[in-house]
Amino acid sequence: MAFSFFMRDQPTLEHAADQMIPYSSGRSRIRVWDAGCALGQETYTLAMILAEKMNRFAFKNVQIDATDHDSANRFGDVVSEAVYHGDELKRTPKDLLSKYFEPAPNHGYTRVKYELRSRVRFQYHDLLSLNPPGTDYCLVVCKNVLLHFQPRERVEVFKMFHRALAPGGYLANENTQKLPHEVAHLFSQVVPDAQVYKKTGN
Ligand SMILES: C[S@@+](CC[C@H](N)C(=O)[O-])C[C@H]1O[C@@H](n2cnc3c(N)ncnc32)[C@H](O)[C@@H]1O
Repeated sequence: MAFSFFMRDQPTLEHAADQMIPYSSGRSRIRVWDAGCALGQETYTLAMILAEKMNRFAFKNVQIDATDHDSANRFGDVVSEAVYHGDELKRTPKDLLSKYFEPAPNHGYTRVKYELRSRVRFQYHDLLSLNPPGTDYCLVVCKNVLLHFQPRERVEVFKMFHRALAPGGYLANENTQKLPHEVAHLFSQVVPDAQVYKKTGN
């Protein structure tokens, strides 16, 4: 199910950003993967958080791969156009709304500004293909997706995230998604009260 909303579990995304930003400093390309992004609400929340915390020049090096397997609902078009109804943005602080959104032609809708849109690229991708859409990611975010998978599938998907991450890169899950013991040696938890992990090994 594609339920999602702007500013969902903001603390975990903030923690993940706080870990990733110093780690990625000096990189000319800062790759981030939002796996199971639904209609992009989480992706643009993360983009806003990164834009707020990073300096302008470093943020221009961010490339967020937003992926989902749901092609029936044309998620790709929604994420790329980045037009959302005002009701969806009720939890977004006013200062962020005026900074990162602009009026859309349809009454009651707003559009994410180019500054954030240009950092996001949508791809249809099935996590169960176990082939990541890219490699060398500094951060992988996968929230409220894996709970629908079988335990064995979950283990294989975590192994794929490990392969997709750059050495020392970060992974963020929702708070109820504990790391399966089969992959515990591949990540170390870096934030005590959030599911934010650092990749161990290569
Ligand atoms: C509940 S939404 C979570 C959206 C967002 N990550 C959040 O936390 O708000 C789950 C999303 O996972 C996607 N999904 C489920 N199975 C998937 C798979 N095998 N590959 C890629 N995406 C999948 C669904 O299409 C849906 O958009």
